[in-house]
Amino acid sequence: MKELKHFLRFSDLTREELETLFKLTSEIKRKFKTFERRQTLQDRTLVMVFEKSSTRTRLSFELGISQLGGSSVYLNTKDSQLGRGEPVADSARVISRMCDIVMIRTFEQEMIETFAYNSTVPVINGLTDQHHPCQVLADIFTFIEKIGPIRGATVAWIGDSNNMCNSWIEAASILDFTLNISSPPGYEPKNISESGNSKFFSTPEAAVRNADIVTTDVWASMGFEKETSSRKLAFQKWQVNKTLMSQASKNAIFMHCLPAHRGEEVTSEVIDGDQSLVWDEAENRLHVQKALMETLLMGQLKN
Ligand code: CP
Ligand code: NVA
Repeated sequence: MKELKHFLRFSDLTREELETLFKLTSEIKRKFKTFERRQTLQDRTLVMVFEKSSTRTRLSFELGISQLGGSSVYLNTKDSQLGRGEPVADSARVISRMCDIVMIRTFEQEMIETFAYNSTVPVINGLTDQHHPCQVLADIFTFIEKIGPIRGATVAWIGDSNNMCNSWIEAASILDFTLNISSPPGYEPKNISESGNSKFFSTPEAAVRNADIVTTDVWASMGFEKETSSRKLAFQKWQVNKTLMSQASKNAIFMHCLPAHRGEEVTSEVIDGDQSLVWDEAENRLHVQKALMETLLMGQLKN
């Protein structure tokens, strides 16, 4: 058996592994679209632990494992012992003995690291306060599929330097593209020095110059709801609107992980306009995560 491989942050996969994963995703998507069976994970089981809300992540993992011939169980904090103080390490030991793979959406990255450390099966990060690597996998796959290679491209991240921004920072250094980040004062990324490919700009206009992708996210992520009104004031000038899009590359595309707040971080003109790829990004969560589950599980069978 090979060493256990988890996907807790984007940098858990190498460039070679990512390239193979994207090729596999194309193949899985093609088969799905042509109604061809692909039951590589028959009898395999996924446990999903959700400590925050979700539409896309739950659907794409639950449907993904079932389309590959396996099944899943959904656990949340409210009606499992996780919400009553059972140690994460104990939960990991028990849950991982009964299934083949685990996906967790939670608050602190430390929780998922502790879970993975004590797990006997692969663990996938379905979003923490610090990272959202599955979404960035889907976004990059979407760019490759619709536009071309990501290497050498320029991505502009406008807004909060949150979990999505952190996963983009890691992706830029592994896949060798430029990431221009612009956030309001007080909301700048803390880990930008980790990567020579990410640069900070004090204005969104400077960040979008020559960008092939302009991307943003909500101003107040899950867990930060109490800051909603102060953030609304601070982020006013970091809205992605038509004027800002017009300063990016001529063929720039718009991306957003969703859910979106029209009129706040993005205008409806942009998210519902011709440059937007948001529905492809959402769909590709399904295909890329099927490839990810296959890769993490099948990888264990290879010597
Ligand atoms: N983008 C994303 O992760 O969506 P959900 O919160 O609906 O899962
Ligand atoms: N940054 C957002 C992403 C939601 C998919 C959040 O954490 O709420």
